[in-house]
Amino acid sequence: MSVSVRLLREEDLAKADRVMRLAFGTFLGLPNPMDFTGDAAYIRTRWRAEPSAAFGAEVGDEIAGSNFAANWGSVGLIGPITTRPDLWDRGIGGRLMQPVMERLEQWGTRHHGLFTFAHSQKHVGLYQKFGFWPQFLTAIMSKPVAPAERSSGLTRFSDVSNTERQRLLEDCAEVTDAIYEGLDLRAEVRAVTQQGLGETLLLWDAGRLAGLAVCHCGAGSEAGTGVCYVKFGAARPGPRASTHFRRLLDACEQLAAEKNQSRLVAGVNTARHEAYRHMLERGFRTDLQGVAMQRRNEVGYNRPGIYVIDDWR
Ligand SMILES: CC(C)(COP(=O)(O)OP(=O)(O)OC[C@H]1O[C@@H](n2cnc3c(N)ncnc32)[C@H](O)[C@@H]1OP(=O)(O)O)[C@@H](O)C(=O)NCCC(=O)NCCS
Repeated sequence: MSVSVRLLREEDLAKADRVMRLAFGTFLGLPNPMDFTGDAAYIRTRWRAEPSAAFGAEVGDEIAGSNFAANWGSVGLIGPITTRPDLWDRGIGGRLMQPVMERLEQWGTRHHGLFTFAHSQKHVGLYQKFGFWPQFLTAIMSKPVAPAERSSGLTRFSDVSNTERQRLLEDCAEVTDAIYEGLDLRAEVRAVTQQGLGETLLLWDAGRLAGLAVCHCGAGSEAGTGVCYVKFGAARPGPRASTHFRRLLDACEQLAAEKNQSRLVAGVNTARHEAYRHMLERGFRTDLQGVAMQRRNEVGYNRPGIYVIDDWR
């Protein structure tokens, strides 16, 4: 079998999307594997955000799998990786890991991580070959959206001018840098704005940015119909982090209500113990549990006292 790996092109996206749904749906045992994630989208959104980090494997002239890298400044993430189920265990997944690892090296990202299924020895084994080690569980949680008033001290990124957006992006980078040196979510904020995937919420305290939440909403985004998905949320570290985190969750729920979404989805690594507990206390329940695997077994920002929502899927 001859396999070649190359950058995905726009005309490959529909095929790569079908492989992605079939692969996850088959692995998870869905009655109709193609129903996986409904009308939520990963392949097209990630390709559009960073086409130089979207790779496809070709067998014959068919796309047989894909893999992606995300650049979060000093942090580089891998996935989603998928290969066609009839070709599993023939080395294609390993081949798709290689260019993604190279891309992370080229970017100079320092901390590398991924989310995977904790119960699968195959998944853990595959990533371990590339230097990733399993650490804490990541809980993908959700709660029903309750109606709520818009709170004060909040800016919506889509409401401000282009000039002001530049300044706000700097503020976001400053908050994330305080969480983990060089952590930078500007690419995700831009992707949401440019592709119309949802909204970025900015929370203020005494004139200073106290938190941010990058949210996907509805069909065609990573959320899907009826869902507001917090792709990344963070409160500035410090004595008021816990208060800001609660306000941030309020703001996400308000956004979801305003956009007529019925569920709020947010993932958290359980090593961020206080953040995880806050979410449980607030009524979030775990729908899917995976494990964060981290290169060189480094902890990164998965540690107590860090008020961050993300799941690295
Ligand atoms: C996960 C997935 C991408 C792997 O693709 P693949 O083409 O089957 O992967 P490969 O054949 O390259 O690698 C399989 C590796 O699994 C590992 N493995 C398999 N069984 C194992 C076990 N019991 N213990 C440890 N490692 C094991 C081996 O390292 C093997 O590599 P090797 O060929 O060098 O021995 C594919 O199964 C898939 O699409 N799954 C559904 C979607 C999904 O779960 N994606 C990943 C989300 S994190």
